[in-house]
Amino acid sequence: MPIRHLISIEDVTLDWWNELYALCRDIIARPGDYSLSCSGRVLASLFFEPSTRTNFSFQAAMMRLGGSVFGFSEPGGTSTAKGETLADTVRMMSSYADTIVIRSPHEGAAKAASLYSEVPIINAGDGGHFHPTQTLADLTTISMRRGGIGDMNIGICGDLLNGRTVHSLVTALAMFPNVNYYLISPRELAIPDYMLAYLKKQNQKYIEVTSLESTLPQLDILYMTRIQRERFKDPAAYERLKNVYVLNRRKLQAARKDCLVMHPLPRLDEISRDVDDDPRAVYFDQARYGMFIRMALLLKMTHAPRVPVAPCTPAAGYRCVNPSCVTGTETYLPVLSKENEPDSCAYCDKKMLTIS
Ligand code: CP
Repeated sequence: MPIRHLISIEDVTLDWWNELYALCRDIIARPGDYSLSCSGRVLASLFFEPSTRTNFSFQAAMMRLGGSVFGFSEPGGTSTAKGETLADTVRMMSSYADTIVIRSPHEGAAKAASLYSEVPIINAGDGGHFHPTQTLADLTTISMRRGGIGDMNIGICGDLLNGRTVHSLVTALAMFPNVNYYLISPRELAIPDYMLAYLKKQNQKYIEVTSLESTLPQLDILYMTRIQRERFKDPAAYERLKNVYVLNRRKLQAARKDCLVMHPLPRLDEISRDVDDDPRAVYFDQARYGMFIRMALLLKMTHAPRVPVAPCTPAAGYRCVNPSCVTGTETYLPVLSKENEPDSCAYCDKKMLTIS
């Protein structure tokens, strides 16, 4: 079943993933066979927030497929700086390109973009919400290194509140059998309620803990994350929490011999440099796998037919009050509810306010 837009990893089915991964493996094995697969296709790359891996791995992926890329990594050089809306920017880009990759500091921005685009939208990170293509890189890494996904204890450590890679990864892993989650964070940075609700709904086994040291020996995978300074309202709180978890070579001695140490990167001090040459550290490989799985994704998406923009029906009686939601800045956006959850915002997943 094709996917029109990749907004959330919830859009992904196991069959779709298996097909994408098989394609990715073939690209890794025979890259020359794909060097003209996207010839004549154009990718628009809209980065309203900084990026190294996601932005440049998408660009490299498209170039390795023989396609072209245009876009920006600094919106100050576009008419956004004059006040143009996201909707109008996306309408323009969708008339020039065959697929759009978008990163934004606002939760739900990719969903909003999908309402105004005739071509597929790929979410390259929307605030602290989701980052589905990082998850495709993570799943590729786990599959390549463990020979499959499932039957494993995964510790996810750090800023689970704001870490969009965490939210997408947890959502994806629910597709696979017998995954036990150790959610390691300080209480202030615990995983959001909507993610816990998702884990419960999917009957996933999870435990919330605060100690990395005592959890480490039980893990098959340790997924470290950065404390996300840019999402903190209070700089003092960031200073207090920024070094709450630091993995170093000494601590890693307590881990299993085959434990994978993953990180979406960029890292600050949460993984010491002395871990980098440990064979269990796979975070740089993870970033390289990200390029290959994005090649597979672009192959699937950039050949999709254009679909005219259609009006959608706003949800009556609700208003999203999440200050990080895209509806707070792009105020013309229709109020939309999640399917089967009328009181949850379809952009950011948070509970909405009922209004009379
Ligand atoms: N992992 C990741 O999203 O990195 P960038 O912010 O550099 O794209």
